[in-house]
Amino acid sequence: MLLPDFFEFHLPTRIVFQNGAITLLADEITRLGRKRPYLITDRPLRESGALAKVEAALRGAGMAPAGVYDDIPRDSDVRAVERGAELARASGADCLVALGGGSVMDTAKGMNILLGAGGALLDHQGINVIAGPLWPLLSIPTTAGTGSEVSRFAVIKDTESHSKVTFVSPHLASTVAVLDPELTLSMPPKLTAATGMDALTHAVEGCFSKGATPMTDAIGFLAMRMLSENIVKAVHDGADLAVRGRMVVAATMAGVAFSNAGVCCVHALAHTLGGLYGVPHGIANAILLPLGARFNLPTCRTKLDQFAEALGVSASGDAESKIDRITARLRQLVQDCGIPPKLRDWMVPEDGLAQVASGAMCDGAMFYNPQDAAEEDLLAMVREAW
Ligand SMILES: [Fe+2]
Repeated sequence: MLLPDFFEFHLPTRIVFQNGAITLLADEITRLGRKRPYLITDRPLRESGALAKVEAALRGAGMAPAGVYDDIPRDSDVRAVERGAELARASGADCLVALGGGSVMDTAKGMNILLGAGGALLDHQGINVIAGPLWPLLSIPTTAGTGSEVSRFAVIKDTESHSKVTFVSPHLASTVAVLDPELTLSMPPKLTAATGMDALTHAVEGCFSKGATPMTDAIGFLAMRMLSENIVKAVHDGADLAVRGRMVVAATMAGVAFSNAGVCCVHALAHTLGGLYGVPHGIANAILLPLGARFNLPTCRTKLDQFAEALGVSASGDAESKIDRITARLRQLVQDCGIPPKLRDWMVPEDGLAQVASGAMCDGAMFYNPQDAAEEDLLAMVREAW
């Protein structure tokens, strides 16, 4: 294996895993010397009873939340972040607890930027702009997908420009990630499929990435294997706690891998499709993943056997036959998860594809794409996906 001339690997998040791990939350807050958590979640999680379980776990340990903010849209946006930060500041809280999927966790990160660094949110966009440290943030993912509980990224929609704005900073990583598979048991099949495919895309693109290192490959390929072995089972039998546990852990591992290695063109296109047409992030990734793999795998020839093994296909034969099997396997997983495989099924107009491709060229994820990609390459990809 070739070593990069330079790399760094950063995982500032303490990770705690257990069935029923929310009962450990109060102890984790106390360990940080805090006692007034402000809870951030969304309405579906309030309605499902997940929020009540977390509140009961805190109260059982003698800890009262300073407040709860649940007015978060499906795609985290600037307005929701600003409103949440105002409420948290006024509540007398001394730390944040995010309970939810990517949108909730990214909203909490955005709020934390305003609480800890001040100013206007969009002034902090980009790489390493945020002056830390921020408030302690404890994240409890309720999906197995986004990896936001361990990543140093937040993606938040700018309500004015309809674009997705990326924030990158080690200060954004959660202080603690509490992984409790029981919280994912009630996730419906469609959400399980979409979020699981997001996690699989993190693993695959993290291992493709120009930013991949032996550290991220070790974690990313194992995550890929666990996800590919369990995602279809999780979609079709969501009550299997062991499968849910493997999905939650693998999604967090994929988050560690991509947070350090970066993601590539599939994510660049998914960010643009989400910003322009509201295509759910995991769905856009799922539709484009086999195409992104077909485009990038020829540049990753030394890793083809690892991709084949992680995805459970034969590594025999020449490079072309391996690439064929790997991309076919990814396509099969999308199909077995029941995801409609075309962008036209998700209200994307054919005459909008050129704007999707040009928008994606400006996305930071393109920096990590291993294969040089021109706008026409991305356009060909979304045309095929349409
Ligand atoms: Fe993602």
